[in-house]
Amino acid sequence: MSLINSGVTREGVPGLAEALAATAATYTKVRRLIPEVEWAAYAPLIVEIERLKRDRNAVILAHNYQTPQIFHGVADITGDSLALAKRAAETEADVIVVCGVHFMAETAKVLNPDRTVLIPDLEAGCSLAESITAEDVRALKKRHPGVPVVTYVNTSADVKAETDVCCTSANAVEVVESLATDRVIFLPDEYLGNWVAANTDVEVILWNGHCEVHEQFSVAEIESYRRQFPGVQVIAHPECDLPVLEAADMVGSTAGMIDWVAEHRPRRVVMITECSMSDNVAAEFPEIDFVRSCTICPHMKRITLDNIVSSLENLEYPVEIATDVAQRARRSVERMLEIGRGKSGRRRPQVSELLHQNG
Ligand code: 13P
Ligand code: SF4
Repeated sequence: MSLINSGVTREGVPGLAEALAATAATYTKVRRLIPEVEWAAYAPLIVEIERLKRDRNAVILAHNYQTPQIFHGVADITGDSLALAKRAAETEADVIVVCGVHFMAETAKVLNPDRTVLIPDLEAGCSLAESITAEDVRALKKRHPGVPVVTYVNTSADVKAETDVCCTSANAVEVVESLATDRVIFLPDEYLGNWVAANTDVEVILWNGHCEVHEQFSVAEIESYRRQFPGVQVIAHPECDLPVLEAADMVGSTAGMIDWVAEHRPRRVVMITECSMSDNVAAEFPEIDFVRSCTICPHMKRITLDNIVSSLENLEYPVEIATDVAQRARRSVERMLEIGRGKSGRRRPQVSELLHQNG
Protein backbone atom coordinates (compact mmCIF):
# COMPACT_ATOMS: atom_id res chain seq x y z
CA MET A 1 0.00 0.00 0.00
CA SER A 2 1.18 3.50 -0.77
CA LEU A 3 2.75 5.50 2.06
CA ILE A 4 0.72 8.52 1.05
CA ASN A 5 -2.66 6.73 1.20
CA SER A 6 -2.01 4.47 4.17
CA GLY A 7 -2.42 7.10 6.91
CA VAL A 8 0.86 5.76 8.26
CA THR A 9 2.29 7.21 11.45
CA ARG A 10 5.97 6.50 11.41
CA GLU A 11 7.39 6.01 14.82
CA GLY A 12 9.76 8.82 15.66
CA VAL A 13 8.30 11.08 12.99
CA PRO A 14 5.43 12.83 14.72
CA GLY A 15 3.00 14.51 12.42
CA LEU A 16 4.19 12.67 9.31
CA ALA A 17 0.75 11.29 8.49
CA GLU A 18 -0.80 14.75 8.80
CA ALA A 19 1.95 16.25 6.66
CA LEU A 20 1.46 13.59 3.97
CA ALA A 21 -2.28 14.23 4.01
CA ALA A 22 -1.81 18.01 3.84
CA THR A 23 0.52 17.72 0.85
CA ALA A 24 -1.30 14.90 -0.96
CA ALA A 25 -2.67 17.13 -3.75
CA THR A 26 0.79 18.53 -4.49
CA TYR A 27 2.28 15.06 -4.45
CA THR A 28 -0.22 13.88 -7.04
CA LYS A 29 1.32 16.43 -9.41
CA VAL A 30 4.95 15.47 -8.82
CA ARG A 31 4.67 11.76 -8.05
CA ARG A 32 6.29 10.79 -11.37
CA LEU A 33 9.31 12.89 -10.41
CA ILE A 34 9.74 12.31 -6.67
CA PRO A 35 9.65 8.86 -5.00
CA GLU A 36 7.31 8.48 -2.01
CA VAL A 37 10.17 7.83 0.37
CA GLU A 38 11.67 11.20 -0.58
CA TRP A 39 8.33 12.98 -0.31
CA ALA A 40 8.03 11.69 3.26
CA ALA A 41 11.09 13.82 4.05
CA TYR A 42 9.76 16.88 2.20
CA ALA A 43 6.14 16.89 3.39
CA PRO A 44 6.78 18.03 7.01
CA LEU A 45 9.10 20.80 5.75
CA ILE A 46 6.46 21.99 3.28
CA VAL A 47 3.84 22.12 6.03
CA GLU A 48 6.27 24.04 8.26
CA ILE A 49 7.07 26.52 5.49
CA GLU A 50 3.36 27.15 4.87
CA ARG A 51 2.89 27.88 8.58
CA LEU A 52 5.88 30.24 8.70
CA LYS A 53 4.68 32.07 5.59
CA ARG A 54 1.36 32.80 7.28
CA ASP A 55 3.08 33.92 10.53
CA ARG A 56 5.47 36.24 8.69
CA ASN A 57 3.05 37.46 6.00
CA ALA A 58 5.68 36.20 3.59
CA VAL A 59 5.59 35.34 -0.08
CA ILE A 60 7.90 32.89 -1.86
CA LEU A 61 9.15 33.76 -5.34
CA ALA A 62 10.71 30.78 -7.11
CA HIS A 63 12.57 30.71 -10.40
CA ASN A 64 11.71 28.04 -12.98
CA TYR A 65 15.03 26.27 -12.18
CA GLN A 66 14.08 25.45 -8.60
CA THR A 67 13.53 21.80 -7.70
CA PRO A 68 9.95 20.44 -8.03
CA GLN A 69 9.49 20.23 -4.24
CA ILE A 70 10.12 24.00 -4.04
CA PHE A 71 8.52 24.99 -7.35
CA HIS A 72 5.33 22.96 -6.86
CA GLY A 73 5.51 22.56 -3.08
CA VAL A 74 5.94 26.01 -1.52
CA ALA A 75 6.26 28.73 -4.18
CA ASP A 76 3.53 31.40 -4.36
CA ILE A 77 4.89 32.95 -7.52
CA THR A 78 6.97 31.15 -10.14
CA GLY A 79 8.45 32.34 -13.38
CA ASP A 80 11.40 33.62 -15.37
CA SER A 81 13.54 36.56 -14.22
CA LEU A 82 11.18 39.07 -15.84
CA ALA A 83 8.05 37.62 -14.22
CA LEU A 84 9.73 37.46 -10.81
CA ALA A 85 10.85 41.10 -11.08
CA LYS A 86 7.37 42.17 -12.19
CA ARG A 87 5.59 40.25 -9.45
CA ALA A 88 8.10 41.41 -6.83
CA ALA A 89 7.16 44.98 -7.75
CA GLU A 90 3.48 44.20 -7.10
CA THR A 91 3.59 42.25 -3.83
CA GLU A 92 2.00 43.47 -0.60
CA ALA A 93 3.78 40.91 1.60
CA ASP A 94 6.02 42.06 4.46
CA VAL A 95 8.66 39.46 3.66
CA ILE A 96 9.79 38.21 0.24
CA VAL A 97 11.81 35.00 0.14
CA VAL A 98 13.58 34.61 -3.19
CA CYS A 99 14.22 31.02 -4.19
CA GLY A 100 16.60 31.74 -7.00
CA VAL A 101 20.04 33.32 -7.14
CA HIS A 102 21.43 36.44 -5.54
CA PHE A 103 20.88 38.85 -8.43
CA MET A 104 17.17 37.92 -8.42
CA ALA A 105 16.93 38.72 -4.70
CA GLU A 106 18.72 42.02 -5.32
CA THR A 107 16.26 42.88 -8.09
CA ALA A 108 13.38 42.20 -5.69
CA LYS A 109 15.04 44.43 -3.06
CA VAL A 110 15.72 47.22 -5.57
CA LEU A 111 11.97 47.23 -6.32
CA ASN A 112 10.98 46.88 -2.64
CA PRO A 113 13.43 48.96 -0.60
CA ASP A 114 11.08 49.01 2.42
CA ARG A 115 10.30 45.30 2.56
CA THR A 116 12.39 42.48 3.96
CA VAL A 117 13.86 40.50 1.08
CA LEU A 118 15.55 37.23 2.01
CA ILE A 119 17.70 34.74 0.15
CA PRO A 120 18.06 31.40 1.95
CA ASP A 121 21.72 30.98 0.92
CA LEU A 122 24.02 33.92 0.26
CA GLU A 123 26.32 31.75 -1.85
CA ALA A 124 23.65 31.28 -4.53
CA GLY A 125 25.51 33.28 -7.18
CA CYS A 126 25.70 33.31 -10.98
CA SER A 127 28.70 33.07 -13.32
CA LEU A 128 27.29 35.90 -15.45
CA ALA A 129 26.80 38.24 -12.49
CA GLU A 130 30.33 37.48 -11.34
CA SER A 131 31.85 38.23 -14.76
CA ILE A 132 31.57 42.02 -14.48
CA THR A 133 31.91 44.81 -11.91
CA ALA A 134 30.65 48.39 -11.75
CA GLU A 135 34.25 49.50 -12.36
CA ASP A 136 34.31 47.49 -15.61
CA VAL A 137 31.13 49.27 -16.76
CA ARG A 138 32.57 52.70 -15.96
CA ALA A 139 35.69 51.84 -18.00
CA LEU A 140 33.55 50.69 -20.96
CA LYS A 141 31.51 53.90 -20.87
CA LYS A 142 34.75 55.91 -21.03
CA ARG A 143 35.91 53.85 -24.00
CA HIS A 144 32.57 54.31 -25.82
CA PRO A 145 31.31 57.76 -24.78
CA GLY A 146 27.62 58.39 -25.42
CA VAL A 147 26.81 54.75 -26.26
CA PRO A 148 23.92 53.53 -24.09
CA VAL A 149 24.44 50.52 -21.85
CA VAL A 150 21.94 47.64 -21.75
CA THR A 151 22.52 45.24 -18.89
CA TYR A 152 21.13 41.75 -18.52
CA VAL A 153 19.43 41.38 -15.11
CA ASN A 154 21.97 38.63 -14.32
CA THR A 155 24.22 41.28 -12.76
CA SER A 156 24.76 42.88 -9.35
CA ALA A 157 22.84 45.98 -8.27
CA ASP A 158 26.16 47.89 -8.50
CA VAL A 159 26.38 47.05 -12.21
CA LYS A 160 22.69 47.82 -12.81
CA ALA A 161 23.24 51.21 -11.21
CA GLU A 162 25.82 52.08 -13.90
CA THR A 163 23.56 51.24 -16.82
CA ASP A 164 20.79 52.88 -18.80
CA VAL A 165 18.31 50.01 -18.92
CA CYS A 166 18.12 46.35 -17.93
CA CYS A 167 16.79 43.45 -19.96
CA THR A 168 16.08 39.76 -19.50
CA SER A 169 16.26 36.96 -22.00
CA ALA A 170 12.53 37.57 -22.59
CA ASN A 171 12.92 41.11 -23.96
CA ALA A 172 16.60 41.72 -24.85
CA VAL A 173 15.93 42.56 -28.51
CA GLU A 174 13.00 44.86 -27.68
CA VAL A 175 15.02 46.69 -25.01
CA VAL A 176 17.97 47.25 -27.37
CA GLU A 177 15.65 48.52 -30.12
CA SER A 178 13.75 50.76 -27.69
CA LEU A 179 16.84 52.97 -27.41
CA ALA A 180 16.54 53.98 -31.09
CA THR A 181 20.29 54.21 -31.51
CA ASP A 182 22.89 52.65 -33.89
CA ARG A 183 25.07 51.09 -31.20
CA VAL A 184 24.63 49.76 -27.70
CA ILE A 185 26.95 48.27 -25.11
CA PHE A 186 25.35 44.95 -24.13
CA LEU A 187 26.50 43.35 -20.85
CA PRO A 188 27.64 40.86 -19.72
CA ASP A 189 26.40 37.77 -21.63
CA GLU A 190 28.31 37.43 -24.89
CA TYR A 191 26.04 34.67 -26.17
CA LEU A 192 22.79 36.49 -25.42
CA GLY A 193 24.44 39.54 -27.03
CA ASN A 194 25.22 37.48 -30.15
CA TRP A 195 21.58 36.40 -30.25
CA VAL A 196 20.45 40.03 -30.00
CA ALA A 197 22.90 41.04 -32.75
CA ALA A 198 21.46 38.29 -34.98
CA ASN A 199 17.97 39.71 -34.50
CA THR A 200 18.49 43.45 -34.90
CA ASP A 201 20.32 46.01 -37.04
CA VAL A 202 21.70 47.73 -33.94
CA GLU A 203 25.45 47.25 -33.52
CA VAL A 204 26.13 45.47 -30.25
CA ILE A 205 29.35 45.95 -28.26
CA LEU A 206 29.84 42.81 -26.18
CA TRP A 207 31.45 41.65 -22.92
CA ASN A 208 32.78 38.13 -22.50
CA GLY A 209 30.58 36.79 -19.70
CA HIS A 210 29.04 33.33 -20.06
CA CYS A 211 26.56 31.18 -18.19
CA GLU A 212 28.47 28.16 -16.91
CA VAL A 213 25.38 25.99 -17.47
CA HIS A 214 24.31 27.03 -20.96
CA GLU A 215 27.83 27.22 -22.39
CA GLN A 216 28.00 23.43 -21.99
CA PHE A 217 25.47 22.73 -24.75
CA SER A 218 26.74 21.99 -28.25
CA VAL A 219 25.34 21.48 -31.75
CA ALA A 220 26.60 17.87 -31.58
CA GLU A 221 24.40 17.29 -28.52
CA ILE A 222 21.34 18.64 -30.35
CA GLU A 223 22.10 16.49 -33.38
CA SER A 224 22.40 13.48 -31.12
CA TYR A 225 18.94 14.19 -29.59
CA ARG A 226 17.45 14.44 -33.07
CA ARG A 227 19.03 11.11 -34.07
CA GLN A 228 18.05 9.28 -30.88
CA PHE A 229 14.55 10.73 -30.49
CA PRO A 230 12.94 11.14 -33.92
CA GLY A 231 10.53 14.07 -34.14
CA VAL A 232 11.84 15.72 -30.96
CA GLN A 233 11.30 19.50 -30.81
CA VAL A 234 14.39 21.32 -29.56
CA ILE A 235 13.80 24.52 -27.60
CA ALA A 236 16.75 26.50 -26.27
CA HIS A 237 17.58 29.34 -23.90
CA PRO A 238 19.39 32.30 -25.49
CA GLU A 239 22.29 32.03 -23.02
CA CYS A 240 23.53 29.22 -25.32
CA ASP A 241 26.09 29.88 -28.04
CA LEU A 242 24.64 31.11 -31.38
CA PRO A 243 25.28 27.88 -33.38
CA VAL A 244 23.30 25.97 -30.71
CA LEU A 245 20.44 28.46 -31.01
CA GLU A 246 20.52 28.24 -34.80
CA ALA A 247 20.18 24.46 -34.48
CA ALA A 248 17.09 24.75 -32.22
CA ASP A 249 13.44 24.91 -33.31
CA MET A 250 12.60 27.70 -30.86
CA VAL A 251 14.55 30.11 -28.66
CA GLY A 252 13.10 31.79 -25.58
CA SER A 253 13.40 32.71 -21.94
CA THR A 254 12.44 30.01 -19.46
CA ALA A 255 8.85 31.32 -19.38
CA GLY A 256 8.86 31.65 -23.18
CA MET A 257 9.79 27.97 -23.41
CA ILE A 258 6.98 26.96 -21.08
CA ASP A 259 4.45 29.05 -23.04
CA TRP A 260 5.65 27.47 -26.27
CA VAL A 261 5.15 23.95 -24.87
CA ALA A 262 1.69 24.91 -23.59
CA GLU A 263 0.71 26.32 -26.98
CA HIS A 264 2.25 23.74 -29.32
CA ARG A 265 1.87 20.58 -27.17
CA PRO A 266 4.69 18.74 -28.97
CA ARG A 267 4.64 14.96 -28.69
CA ARG A 268 8.28 15.00 -27.64
CA VAL A 269 10.52 17.90 -26.61
CA VAL A 270 13.95 18.63 -25.20
CA MET A 271 14.61 21.85 -23.31
CA ILE A 272 18.18 23.07 -23.80
CA THR A 273 18.50 24.67 -20.38
CA GLU A 274 18.85 23.85 -16.68
CA CYS A 275 17.39 20.45 -15.89
CA SER A 276 14.82 21.23 -13.16
CA MET A 277 12.90 23.17 -15.82
CA SER A 278 11.97 19.97 -17.64
CA ASP A 279 10.89 18.35 -14.37
CA ASN A 280 8.69 21.30 -13.41
CA VAL A 281 7.07 21.54 -16.83
CA ALA A 282 6.72 17.75 -17.19
CA ALA A 283 4.62 17.77 -14.00
CA GLU A 284 2.13 20.07 -15.79
CA PHE A 285 2.08 18.14 -19.08
CA PRO A 286 2.14 14.41 -18.31
CA GLU A 287 1.17 13.54 -21.89
CA ILE A 288 4.34 15.09 -23.37
CA ASP A 289 7.55 13.08 -23.59
CA PHE A 290 10.33 15.27 -22.14
CA VAL A 291 13.81 14.21 -23.18
CA ARG A 292 16.02 15.23 -20.25
CA SER A 293 19.35 16.96 -20.72
CA CYS A 294 20.53 17.03 -17.15
CA THR A 295 22.64 20.14 -16.78
CA ILE A 296 22.42 21.56 -13.27
CA CYS A 297 22.93 25.14 -12.10
CA PRO A 298 24.85 24.60 -8.84
CA HIS A 299 23.86 28.07 -7.63
CA MET A 300 20.12 27.52 -8.01
CA LYS A 301 20.48 24.19 -6.25
CA ARG A 302 21.85 25.83 -3.08
CA ILE A 303 18.24 26.64 -2.20
CA THR A 304 16.56 23.77 -0.33
CA LEU A 305 13.41 23.26 1.74
CA ASP A 306 15.66 23.13 4.82
CA ASN A 307 17.23 26.51 4.26
CA ILE A 308 13.85 28.04 3.34
CA VAL A 309 12.61 26.98 6.81
CA SER A 310 15.67 28.63 8.44
CA SER A 311 15.25 31.68 6.26
CA LEU A 312 11.65 32.21 7.42
CA GLU A 313 12.37 31.29 11.03
CA ASN A 314 15.42 33.52 11.46
CA LEU A 315 14.82 36.10 8.71
CA GLU A 316 18.04 35.07 6.98
CA TYR A 317 19.66 36.34 4.85
CA PRO A 318 18.37 39.88 4.35
CA VAL A 319 19.49 41.55 1.13
CA GLU A 320 20.80 45.08 1.71
CA ILE A 321 21.76 47.58 -0.99
CA ALA A 322 23.16 51.08 -0.44
CA THR A 323 20.35 53.62 -0.99
CA ASP A 324 21.99 55.52 -3.87
CA VAL A 325 22.93 52.30 -5.68
CA ALA A 326 19.39 50.93 -5.21
CA GLN A 327 17.87 54.15 -6.55
CA ARG A 328 20.00 54.14 -9.70
CA ALA A 329 19.53 50.39 -10.23
CA ARG A 330 15.74 50.79 -9.79
CA ARG A 331 15.60 53.28 -12.64
CA SER A 332 17.24 50.73 -15.00
CA VAL A 333 14.94 47.90 -13.86
CA GLU A 334 11.80 50.05 -14.05
CA ARG A 335 12.64 51.13 -17.60
CA MET A 336 12.82 47.46 -18.51
CA LEU A 337 9.49 46.70 -16.82
CA GLU A 338 7.86 49.48 -18.85
CA ILE A 339 8.95 47.71 -22.05
CA GLY A 340 7.60 44.37 -20.82
CA ARG A 341 7.87 41.03 -22.53
CA GLY A 342 9.17 40.59 -26.07
CA LYS A 343 8.55 38.00 -28.73
CA SER A 344 10.17 34.62 -28.15
CA GLY A 345 11.99 32.77 -30.87
CA ARG A 346 12.88 35.73 -33.08
CA ARG A 347 15.55 34.94 -35.55
CA ARG A 348 16.49 36.58 -38.80
CA PRO A 349 16.06 34.29 -41.77
CA GLN A 350 19.38 32.81 -42.84
CA VAL A 351 20.64 33.57 -46.37
CA SER A 352 19.69 30.02 -47.38
CA GLU A 353 16.13 30.56 -46.12
CA LEU A 354 15.84 33.84 -48.06
CA LEU A 355 17.00 32.11 -51.25
CA HIS A 356 14.45 29.39 -50.60
CA GLN A 357 11.65 31.94 -49.97
CA ASN A 358 12.53 33.81 -53.17
CA GLY A 359 12.35 30.58 -55.17
P1 13P B 1 15.18 33.50 -17.47
O1 13P B 1 15.04 34.95 -17.30
O2 13P B 1 14.91 33.02 -18.87
O3 13P B 1 14.35 32.76 -16.48
O4 13P B 1 16.70 33.08 -17.23
C1 13P B 1 17.35 33.32 -16.03
C2 13P B 1 18.57 32.54 -15.92
O5 13P B 1 19.35 32.67 -15.03
C3 13P B 1 18.81 31.57 -16.98
O6 13P B 1 19.99 30.93 -16.76
FE1 SF4 C 1 23.52 32.13 -13.71
FE2 SF4 C 1 23.59 30.27 -15.59
FE3 SF4 C 1 22.81 29.61 -13.15
FE4 SF4 C 1 21.23 31.13 -14.69
S1 SF4 C 1 21.81 29.01 -15.05
S2 SF4 C 1 21.72 31.48 -12.55
S3 SF4 C 1 22.75 32.33 -15.80
S4 SF4 C 1 24.85 30.34 -13.76
